[in-house]
Formats: sequence, C-alpha cells, structure tokens
Amino acid sequence: MREIFSGIFGRDAVAEASAPGRVNLIGDHTDYAEGFCLPMPLALETRVAMAPAPAFRAHSLDLDETAPFDPAATARGDWTDYIAGPLAELLQAGFAIPPVEVLVSSDVPQGAGVSSSAALEVATLRAALMLTGAHLPDVEVARLAQSAENAYCGVQCGILDQMASAVGRPGQALLLDCRSNDTRLVPVPPEFHFAVIHCGEARRLVDGAYNERRRSVEEAARLLGIASLRDAVPADLAALSDPLILKRARHVVGENARVTAAVAALEMRDLRGFGSLMTESHRSLAEDFEVSTPALDRLVRDALDAGAFGARLTGAGFGGCIVALLPAGREVWWKRVAAGNPAAWLVQA
Ligand code: GLA
Repeated sequence: MREIFSGIFGRDAVAEASAPGRVNLIGDHTDYAEGFCLPMPLALETRVAMAPAPAFRAHSLDLDETAPFDPAATARGDWTDYIAGPLAELLQAGFAIPPVEVLVSSDVPQGAGVSSSAALEVATLRAALMLTGAHLPDVEVARLAQSAENAYCGVQCGILDQMASAVGRPGQALLLDCRSNDTRLVPVPPEFHFAVIHCGEARRLVDGAYNERRRSVEEAARLLGIASLRDAVPADLAALSDPLILKRARHVVGENARVTAAVAALEMRDLRGFGSLMTESHRSLAEDFEVSTPALDRLVRDALDAGAFGARLTGAGFGGCIVALLPAGREVWWKRVAAGNPAAWLVQA
C-alpha cells in the first residue's frame, strides 16, 4: 500500500489501517430493535492508507478512480461517502483532522451484504485516529462508523455491521447485545465450517424496503407500549391485531431467542442444533419478515439438500449472500450446490 500510495499521490503514507467484512451467523433484523446478533468477521478486508495533504482526495485501487471529497459538504452518493462520513464524525467529535489523501483497496465484495461499507468506515476511522495519535476503544469506533452511515450516508442501519468489523476477532463469533453494545467472543469449534455464498443477484431495493421493515418493527413496539421489541416475549404478540405488524414482530422476537439458543449450541459443539436454528431463522426471514428472494431460497434449499447442517440468508436480504454450516466432504457438497445454482459463487469457504 505504501509504495502504491507514493506512486499515486507523490507523498508518503503516514497511517495505514484495515478492517474486515462480516458474515452474520444468525440474528438478522434484530439490531435496530435492541436485540441480539451473532456475526463473525470474514478473512476479507479493506485497507486504507492516509497522509495529510492540501485537499481531501481519495483513490480506489479496485475502481481505479481518484475523487475529491469534502467531509464538511453533503454526501456525493458514491464510495467516497464512506470515507468522508467517518472523517466528518471525527471532526465533529473535536479531533483535529487535517485534509488528507486516502488510498483504498478492498477484498470485500461490494453490494453483497457482507459489510463492505462498514469495513471502509472502520478502516478510515482507524487510520485517521492514527494520524492524530489518539486512541479510541473499538466499541467507540463502531459507534462513530454507524453514526457516519446514519448521518452522512443517510442509511438508517443498526450497529451490527460496524460492531462486527471493529470489535470482532478472526475465528470467533461475536455475541452482540444491541441495547448495551456489550459483546462476548464465542470461539467457533474446529468442526464448525461456514461457507458464505453469493446467490448471484445483487441486492435490490434494499434501502426503501429496509426502512419500511424498520418502521413496522418500531410500530409494533409502540403498539405494545414498550421501548423496543427486545422487551417482548411471544405471548405479548397476541395483542397485535394488524397481521403484517404481527409477522414482522414475530420474526424479531423469535430471532432474538434463536441467537441465545445458537450461542448455547455453539458452546456445546452441537452442529445439528446450531444448523436447525439457522434454517429456522431463514424460514422466519422469508415468511414473516419477507426479505428473501427466489434465488436466496433456492440456494438455501439446495445447500440443505446437499447435506448442510443449516443455511440462511445473511444480512439485510433482498439478494446477496447466504451462510451455510457445512457437512464433512465440503468439496463434493459445493459441487452439488453449484450445479443447481450456476450464478452462485463462494465469497468465503
Ligand atoms: C444490514 C444493516 C444492519 C442490520 C442487517 C440486518 O446489514 O446494515 O444494521 O440491520 O442489515 O440484520
């Protein structure tokens, strides 16, 4: 990165940092209801190098594109927003961030639902903090990254992606309580092999549908007279008369319970138990939360038919990836799945 940086900007990089993408093993559409999630960082990461310069400018190695940006202005609506937003957050928090040139390189596929934007936000924050000589705890970095995405980029996401990227550790699942932001690392036993598979269809209509789901979940809490669905148990849901609100709420309440059960299964090294919770989660996301697509459903079904212990869509849905808990004989398994899903590709095995 350092050599490329000097080649492009004609000066030496002063700070360099990286952050990974994530897969969520279970616990989707729970973060904005103050619920539980269980993500794991991917081995794929985004790297950022940075140096003070006369003006803000970024170069993406993957897009082969240089662009000016301005943390004090409004979003441009492109990849530079995920750099400008975090820098704007730091400036607002009182950090003396000078104009910088930024080089970005990433293995995290974009628009696949594996948090390429969170990886870029977290890596940017880490590099910029390094420039100022300041240190912030990882949870604080995640909070700033989420706030950048909400305020600067205008995406009303929860904190799952940023926490997974900033606080997660390789080879460990991260139990995340989205009310307190408390976390617990849960080691993944060696016989647990997960594959992240892209269904071949980019995520579509995500922002509008995402915000609409979020509103239903908030409406359910309001109708139940509670702060968030985190505080609801299945019996409470009988009070919801609107069938659509009821379905959405049933997903969130059930999914929170599944995360807790999944952590217990992981700790007991119960492959079948963990897998069936994943598959139940997919059913709930597809039928009650209605964020799946025919391509995701087919991939999950074929993954299970080929012998996976469990499979589910991961992230927001509407395209992108599934995660599967793999049986022994992984290569044969993948050949069978790929045969029925020619557009699918392995993001990480
Ligand atoms: C996206 C959002 C997260 C989370 C997931 C669904 O990835 O960025 O905050 O809501 O969808 O679990």
